[in-house]
Amino acid sequence: MSWLWTKFYDKIMRDAEQKCLGEWRAALLGNVSNVVLEIGCGTGTNLDYYPDSVNQLILVEPDKHMRRKLQEKIAVKPERAIKVLDCSADSIPLADASCDVIVSTLVLCSVPDQAKVLAEMYRLLRPEGKFIFIEHMAANTNPQRLKWQRRLEPFWKRMTCGCCLMRQTEEAILKAGFVFEDITRQSMRGVPAIARPSIKGVAFKAALAS
Ligand SMILES: C[S@@+](CC[C@H](N)C(=O)[O-])C[C@H]1O[C@@H](n2cnc3c(N)ncnc32)[C@H](O)[C@@H]1O
Repeated sequence: MSWLWTKFYDKIMRDAEQKCLGEWRAALLGNVSNVVLEIGCGTGTNLDYYPDSVNQLILVEPDKHMRRKLQEKIAVKPERAIKVLDCSADSIPLADASCDVIVSTLVLCSVPDQAKVLAEMYRLLRPEGKFIFIEHMAANTNPQRLKWQRRLEPFWKRMTCGCCLMRQTEEAILKAGFVFEDITRQSMRGVPAIARPSIKGVAFKAALAS
Protein backbone atom coordinates (compact mmCIF):
# COMPACT_ATOMS: atom_id res chain seq x y z
CA MET A 1 0.00 0.00 0.00
CA SER A 2 2.88 2.40 0.64
CA TRP A 3 3.32 3.28 -3.05
CA LEU A 4 -0.34 4.32 -3.20
CA TRP A 5 -0.12 6.27 0.06
CA THR A 6 3.02 8.02 -1.23
CA LYS A 7 1.45 8.79 -4.59
CA PHE A 8 -1.46 10.66 -3.04
CA TYR A 9 0.14 11.87 0.22
CA ASP A 10 0.77 15.49 -0.83
CA LYS A 11 -2.68 15.75 -2.39
CA ILE A 12 -4.38 14.26 0.70
CA MET A 13 -2.57 16.73 2.94
CA ARG A 14 -3.04 19.82 0.76
CA ASP A 15 -6.13 21.11 2.54
CA ALA A 16 -4.52 20.76 5.98
CA GLU A 17 -1.32 22.39 4.73
CA GLN A 18 -3.33 25.38 3.56
CA LYS A 19 -5.58 25.59 6.60
CA CYS A 20 -2.97 25.21 9.35
CA LEU A 21 0.01 22.90 8.81
CA GLY A 22 1.91 25.23 6.49
CA GLU A 23 1.69 28.00 9.05
CA TRP A 24 2.74 25.68 11.91
CA ARG A 25 5.71 24.35 9.97
CA ALA A 26 6.85 27.88 9.05
CA ALA A 27 6.63 29.10 12.65
CA LEU A 28 8.48 26.14 14.15
CA LEU A 29 11.16 25.64 11.51
CA GLY A 30 11.87 29.23 10.50
CA ASN A 31 14.62 29.78 13.09
CA VAL A 32 16.41 26.43 13.22
CA SER A 33 20.12 26.30 12.52
CA ASN A 34 23.30 24.20 12.26
CA VAL A 35 22.83 20.40 12.21
CA VAL A 36 19.17 19.46 11.80
CA LEU A 37 17.89 15.88 11.81
CA GLU A 38 14.37 15.20 10.57
CA ILE A 39 12.83 11.78 11.14
CA GLY A 40 10.17 10.26 8.87
CA CYS A 41 10.44 13.16 6.45
CA GLY A 42 8.12 11.46 3.94
CA THR A 43 7.85 13.33 0.65
CA GLY A 44 9.91 16.22 2.04
CA THR A 45 7.18 18.76 2.82
CA ASN A 46 9.38 20.47 5.43
CA LEU A 47 12.15 21.16 2.90
CA ASP A 48 10.47 24.40 1.89
CA TYR A 49 10.59 25.74 5.43
CA TYR A 50 14.23 25.28 6.47
CA PRO A 51 16.19 28.54 6.52
CA ASP A 52 19.71 29.05 5.17
CA SER A 53 21.07 28.90 8.73
CA VAL A 54 20.76 25.09 8.51
CA ASN A 55 24.21 23.99 7.42
CA GLN A 56 23.58 20.25 7.50
CA LEU A 57 20.20 18.64 6.98
CA ILE A 58 19.91 14.91 7.69
CA LEU A 59 16.67 13.26 6.62
CA VAL A 60 15.62 9.82 7.84
CA GLU A 61 13.06 7.96 5.74
CA PRO A 62 12.74 4.14 5.69
CA ASP A 63 10.07 3.88 2.98
CA LYS A 64 11.52 3.53 -0.52
CA HIS A 65 8.52 5.12 -2.25
CA MET A 66 8.63 8.14 0.05
CA ARG A 67 12.40 8.38 -0.49
CA ARG A 68 11.95 8.41 -4.25
CA LYS A 69 9.54 11.37 -4.04
CA LEU A 70 11.85 13.04 -1.54
CA GLN A 71 14.82 12.72 -3.90
CA GLU A 72 12.81 14.45 -6.63
CA LYS A 73 12.26 17.41 -4.31
CA ILE A 74 15.89 17.46 -3.18
CA ALA A 75 17.05 17.48 -6.81
CA VAL A 76 15.61 20.96 -7.26
CA LYS A 77 17.48 22.25 -4.19
CA PRO A 78 21.12 21.54 -5.17
CA GLU A 79 22.41 24.46 -3.08
CA ARG A 80 21.61 22.75 0.23
CA ALA A 81 23.73 20.06 1.95
CA ILE A 82 21.27 17.21 2.50
CA LYS A 83 21.96 13.65 3.57
CA VAL A 84 19.20 11.03 3.30
CA LEU A 85 19.37 7.99 5.58
CA ASP A 86 17.45 4.81 4.79
CA CYS A 87 16.84 3.59 8.34
CA SER A 88 14.23 3.50 11.06
CA ALA A 89 14.12 6.40 13.51
CA ASP A 90 14.67 3.99 16.39
CA SER A 91 18.21 3.21 15.25
CA ILE A 92 20.00 6.02 13.43
CA PRO A 93 23.70 5.67 12.58
CA LEU A 94 24.77 9.01 14.09
CA ALA A 95 26.91 9.81 17.14
CA ASP A 96 25.43 10.73 20.53
CA ALA A 97 24.58 14.43 20.94
CA SER A 98 25.39 15.17 17.30
CA CYS A 99 22.25 17.14 16.38
CA ASP A 100 21.32 20.73 17.22
CA VAL A 101 17.69 20.28 16.25
CA ILE A 102 15.51 17.20 15.74
CA VAL A 103 12.23 17.49 13.86
CA SER A 104 9.29 15.10 13.90
CA THR A 105 6.13 16.11 12.06
CA LEU A 106 3.29 13.57 11.85
CA VAL A 107 5.68 10.68 12.51
CA LEU A 108 5.23 9.57 16.13
CA CYS A 109 1.76 8.32 15.16
CA SER A 110 3.29 5.91 12.63
CA VAL A 111 6.47 4.50 14.13
CA PRO A 112 6.02 0.95 15.49
CA ASP A 113 7.78 1.70 18.81
CA GLN A 114 7.29 5.30 19.89
CA ALA A 115 9.27 4.98 23.14
CA LYS A 116 12.27 3.56 21.29
CA VAL A 117 12.21 6.39 18.74
CA LEU A 118 11.98 9.04 21.46
CA ALA A 119 14.90 7.43 23.31
CA GLU A 120 16.91 7.65 20.09
CA MET A 121 15.96 11.36 19.73
CA TYR A 122 17.17 11.91 23.30
CA ARG A 123 20.47 10.19 22.54
CA LEU A 124 21.10 12.19 19.37
CA LEU A 125 20.15 15.64 20.60
CA ARG A 126 22.95 17.74 22.05
CA PRO A 127 22.30 19.01 25.61
CA GLU A 128 20.98 22.46 24.59
CA GLY A 129 19.34 21.15 21.42
CA LYS A 130 15.67 21.45 20.49
CA PHE A 131 13.17 18.77 19.66
CA ILE A 132 10.46 20.22 17.40
CA PHE A 133 7.22 18.34 16.91
CA ILE A 134 3.82 18.49 15.25
CA GLU A 135 1.86 15.34 16.05
CA HIS A 136 -1.76 14.22 16.16
CA MET A 137 -2.92 12.05 19.04
CA ALA A 138 -5.71 10.60 21.18
CA ALA A 139 -8.75 12.83 21.74
CA ASN A 140 -8.31 12.79 25.51
CA THR A 141 -10.64 15.73 26.18
CA ASN A 142 -13.43 14.57 23.84
CA PRO A 143 -14.85 11.14 24.86
CA GLN A 144 -17.14 10.96 21.83
CA ARG A 145 -14.26 11.50 19.42
CA LEU A 146 -12.08 9.08 21.37
CA LYS A 147 -14.79 6.46 20.90
CA TRP A 148 -14.72 7.01 17.13
CA GLN A 149 -10.94 6.90 17.11
CA ARG A 150 -11.09 3.48 18.83
CA ARG A 151 -13.73 2.20 16.39
CA LEU A 152 -12.04 3.41 13.23
CA GLU A 153 -8.38 2.89 14.09
CA PRO A 154 -7.98 -0.61 12.56
CA PHE A 155 -9.35 0.59 9.20
CA TRP A 156 -7.47 3.93 9.39
CA LYS A 157 -4.17 2.16 10.11
CA ARG A 158 -4.55 0.00 7.03
CA MET A 159 -5.38 2.99 4.83
CA THR A 160 -2.50 5.16 6.09
CA CYS A 161 0.41 2.73 6.35
CA GLY A 162 0.32 2.27 10.11
CA CYS A 163 -0.83 5.63 11.44
CA CYS A 164 -2.34 5.19 14.95
CA LEU A 165 -5.07 7.53 16.14
CA MET A 166 -4.90 7.02 19.88
CA ARG A 167 -1.31 7.56 20.88
CA GLN A 168 -0.52 9.41 24.12
CA THR A 169 2.27 11.33 22.43
CA GLU A 170 2.48 14.25 24.84
CA GLU A 171 3.06 11.89 27.79
CA ALA A 172 5.48 9.78 25.75
CA ILE A 173 7.66 12.83 25.01
CA LEU A 174 7.83 13.64 28.73
CA LYS A 175 8.49 10.01 29.65
CA ALA A 176 11.46 9.98 27.28
CA GLY A 177 13.11 12.70 29.36
CA PHE A 178 12.12 15.88 27.55
CA VAL A 179 10.45 18.97 28.98
CA PHE A 180 8.30 21.32 26.97
CA GLU A 181 9.60 24.78 26.24
CA ASP A 182 6.42 25.45 24.34
CA ILE A 183 3.39 23.28 23.58
CA THR A 184 0.08 24.09 21.92
CA ARG A 185 -2.82 21.67 21.90
CA GLN A 186 -5.08 22.36 18.98
CA SER A 187 -7.16 21.04 16.15
CA MET A 188 -5.54 20.18 12.84
CA ARG A 189 -8.03 21.64 10.42
CA GLY A 190 -8.29 20.03 7.00
CA VAL A 191 -8.04 16.39 8.12
CA PRO A 192 -10.86 14.03 9.20
CA ALA A 193 -12.17 14.83 12.71
CA ILE A 194 -10.66 11.65 14.21
CA ALA A 195 -7.14 12.83 13.34
CA ARG A 196 -7.52 16.46 14.40
CA PRO A 197 -6.45 16.53 18.07
CA SER A 198 -2.83 17.64 17.87
CA ILE A 199 0.14 19.06 19.68
CA LYS A 200 2.90 21.23 18.32
CA GLY A 201 5.85 22.82 19.99
CA VAL A 202 9.41 22.59 21.17
CA ALA A 203 10.96 20.39 23.85
CA PHE A 204 14.44 20.13 25.26
CA LYS A 205 16.31 17.60 27.37
CA ALA A 206 15.07 17.59 30.93
CA ALA A 207 18.59 17.13 32.31
CA LEU A 208 19.22 20.72 31.21
CA ALA A 209 16.42 22.04 33.41
CA SER A 210 17.66 20.49 36.67
C1 LIG B 1 2.37 10.71 7.85
S1 LIG B 1 3.94 10.62 7.14
C2 LIG B 1 4.64 12.21 7.62
C3 LIG B 1 5.59 12.78 6.59
C4 LIG B 1 6.19 14.12 6.93
N1 LIG B 1 6.98 14.06 8.13
C5 LIG B 1 5.17 15.23 7.02
O1 LIG B 1 5.27 16.06 7.94
O2 LIG B 1 4.32 15.31 6.15
C6 LIG B 1 4.78 9.50 8.25
C7 LIG B 1 6.19 9.17 7.81
O3 LIG B 1 6.84 8.44 8.84
C8 LIG B 1 7.62 7.43 8.22
N2 LIG B 1 7.92 6.36 9.17
C9 LIG B 1 7.15 5.30 9.52
N3 LIG B 1 7.82 4.49 10.36
C10 LIG B 1 9.03 5.06 10.55
C11 LIG B 1 10.17 4.71 11.32
N4 LIG B 1 10.20 3.60 12.08
N5 LIG B 1 11.26 5.51 11.26
C12 LIG B 1 11.24 6.64 10.52
N6 LIG B 1 10.18 7.03 9.78
C13 LIG B 1 9.10 6.26 9.79
C14 LIG B 1 6.78 6.99 7.05
O4 LIG B 1 7.53 6.28 6.08
C15 LIG B 1 6.24 8.32 6.55
O5 LIG B 1 7.11 8.89 5.63
